[in-house]
Amino acid sequence: MGDPSNTLPRLNPHIAALPLYNAGMNIAVARRVSGIDDIAALASNENPYGCSPAVKSVLAQLDPSRYADPACVTLRAALGRKLDTAPERIVVGNGSEEMIAAVCRAVLRPFATVVTLVPGFGLHEIESQANGAKVVKVGMTKDLAFDVDAIIQALRKKPAILFLSSPSNPVGPAVDSEALSRIIAAVPKETLLLLDEAYFEFSDETTPDGLKALADADISYVVLRTFSKAYGLAGLRVGYAVTSDERLARAISSAKTPFNVNGAAQLAAVAALQDETWMRQAVTAMKAERDRMAGRVAALGMFAPKSQTNFLFLDIGSDSMSAFDHFLSAGIIVKPWKENGFESFIRVTVGLPSDNDRFLDALARFKGDASAVSVGL
Ligand SMILES: Cc1ncc(COP(=O)(O)O)c(C=O)c1O
Repeated sequence: MGDPSNTLPRLNPHIAALPLYNAGMNIAVARRVSGIDDIAALASNENPYGCSPAVKSVLAQLDPSRYADPACVTLRAALGRKLDTAPERIVVGNGSEEMIAAVCRAVLRPFATVVTLVPGFGLHEIESQANGAKVVKVGMTKDLAFDVDAIIQALRKKPAILFLSSPSNPVGPAVDSEALSRIIAAVPKETLLLLDEAYFEFSDETTPDGLKALADADISYVVLRTFSKAYGLAGLRVGYAVTSDERLARAISSAKTPFNVNGAAQLAAVAALQDETWMRQAVTAMKAERDRMAGRVAALGMFAPKSQTNFLFLDIGSDSMSAFDHFLSAGIIVKPWKENGFESFIRVTVGLPSDNDRFLDALARFKGDASAVSVGL
């Protein structure tokens, strides 16, 4: 038998060196590891209420034998009407994560620099590195607010892309109108602003709508939104990019695979847009639960920045992996944070009230155990 390493092709060094994406643990794996059947999946910011019933009925119309429309014409027209934007400026992706990859592929040249935030959403860094770019990370303030001055400072170096997730994953806050205007005004013509609004629907009423804030701005931008969170379609993979210019949209389209959004996803997204009342009810319920959880977390004396998303980022005061094990042993999946300097944080998704209660009880036990250890009991 030959040596299998002899058959390894020469890999693209940018790809071979990529860090792994820190995906939440899968429910089947959690069942196997914990031996518990009833898992509370609170790691991936999904919608615990599922999706609109209109989505389920429209899926019966699917003809799996046909290729889906590669241009997503019906969905882009519906999005154009909703957002008051020309469909030619919209590109639909296999999740908004595919749009992050396609934007990087369309825009980045070898040795380009991009700016992202820390803590931040892993794919902003990973997709940039995959395209050979150097990633500069701007920290948040000590109390985990956006450091607008530091972002503006980083823009002076004219990076190819500024990635800004607002509301922030994993931290939770959103930039306010004044901060967003200052950032937009500081974006040089060489820089593309990628405003990732995956959690837009969960934000406060006073938080600016990025698309409106950018409408008259004379800069290149992409605003990302998704059907995975508020609309409850994470499993179907559909998100979209709204661009500042049709030519940018065409370049991003060329950088994706032609039949990237499958037929079920296209039908489902159109049906979901026709039933926004359902989405708004689910979001209202999740926001109320988020605020209830935040109150209990604060009462336990733990720090979690005020969230405008469907999750909380909390400092559990000890190693996030030991907390992950503690929650898993109670049948609860949370996301242990691993970025440098944030290894004592976990991110927990707002689930159904009963799952949130399980989490809060397990959190109180974790806190009790930790203080028992610290006083030497
Ligand atoms: C900030 C942010 N952007 C993009 C995505 C990608 O979402 P999707 O590909 O499901 O649309 C996520 C998913 O968690 C996210 O948190």
